[in-house]
Amino acid sequence: AAVYRLIMVGSGGVGKSALTLQYMYDEFVVDYEPTKADSYRKAVMLDGEEVQIDILDTAGQENYAGLFALNNYANNSDDCILAIRDTYIRSGEGFLLVFDVTDSESFSDLNELYEQILRVKNGGTNIPAILVGNKIDLAERRKVTLEEAEQKARSWSIRYIETSAKTKHNVDKVFCELMRIVRPF
Ligand code: GTP
Ligand code: MG
Repeated sequence: AAVYRLIMVGSGGVGKSALTLQYMYDEFVVDYEPTKADSYRKAVMLDGEEVQIDILDTAGQENYAGLFALNNYANNSDDCILAIRDTYIRSGEGFLLVFDVTDSESFSDLNELYEQILRVKNGGTNIPAILVGNKIDLAERRKVTLEEAEQKARSWSIRYIETSAKTKHNVDKVFCELMRIVRPF
């Protein structure tokens, strides 16, 4: 079966793991436990074809102190973080760029990640990605508007989709749509 290697990126606490676990196991995890790096694999149907999805759930907090200690080619922890990110970005075919609609900083944090993916993928003007505004169930605390998010997505030539890992709104959709973007023809 075809294999799709997808990567979750975004700041700490935006819901990358919650989205992944909701998609994988139909469960919403209420407690917040920062991720180091986890990968998941399952067989799914995509437009009538059985395919395999591999999801790499990355750490938004990037606490790589332990790795840094072992690493002697990077001069400081920032270099180290960039080097680690380069490695996982290279391994990915598609990216979910996730922010939390109640947290403006998580929205602006994506700029740097986007630039890095673009650079590593060495690639023209667009990357195989979807911009994901998560925690849409918390509408009353919303800080990032639909218009702002759509505008950023347009400037990156990618789609914008709003999700809730809590209610599962659009969760299957973001993974399926990303596989369709990555799918070779
Ligand atoms: P790192 O692993 O540190 O990068 O964070 P993360 O992006 O994986 O965040 P995580 O999925 O652990 O979610 C952080 C917190 O937000 C948890 O307490 C989740 O329960 C909560 N959360 C995630 N998604 C949603 C959502 O859609 N709605 C609501 N209300 N809470 C959410
Ligand atoms: Mg996580």
